[in-house]
Amino acid sequence: MERLKIAIGSDHGGFEYKEQILKHLQEQGFECFNVGTYSTDSCDYPIIARKVTEKIVSGVADRGILICGTGIGMSIVANKVKGIRAALCGDTFSARASRAHNNSNVLCLGERVIGINLAMDIVDIWLKSEFEGGRHQRRVDMMES
Ligand code: RB5
Repeated sequence: MERLKIAIGSDHGGFEYKEQILKHLQEQGFECFNVGTYSTDSCDYPIIARKVTEKIVSGVADRGILICGTGIGMSIVANKVKGIRAALCGDTFSARASRAHNNSNVLCLGERVIGINLAMDIVDIWLKSEFEGGRHQRRVDMMES
């Protein structure tokens, strides 16, 4: 299977998880685009969310991962971009379902909400899960119309 290209970004509230998840993905051989932030200095999550979504919309990356304190701000911004289906997940069931049913192309996580081990499991399951198509394709198509 061809390796997915993944754009990843966080604000200061998600910086530590972003660094750990990025390392984890690189160790598995994924090609990653780290759009920042690059320190724990305070920054604005909408800027980062748009950098990740731009990589997907332009075809440079296949999927994106966005992390902030709650994941909420990132998911709100990402979902305003046409063609982006961002899923804020705090459990593995939702992560799998967001791929199988919603064909999510961005995963949002909250560093201040879930532990790092759960975050890693969510990332792994989300990356492995395939879209089921069929009746779900019709519904995904309806999102954009
Ligand atoms: C930053 O303090 C925090 O507001 C941000 O990381 C995120 O949780 C926003 O949704």
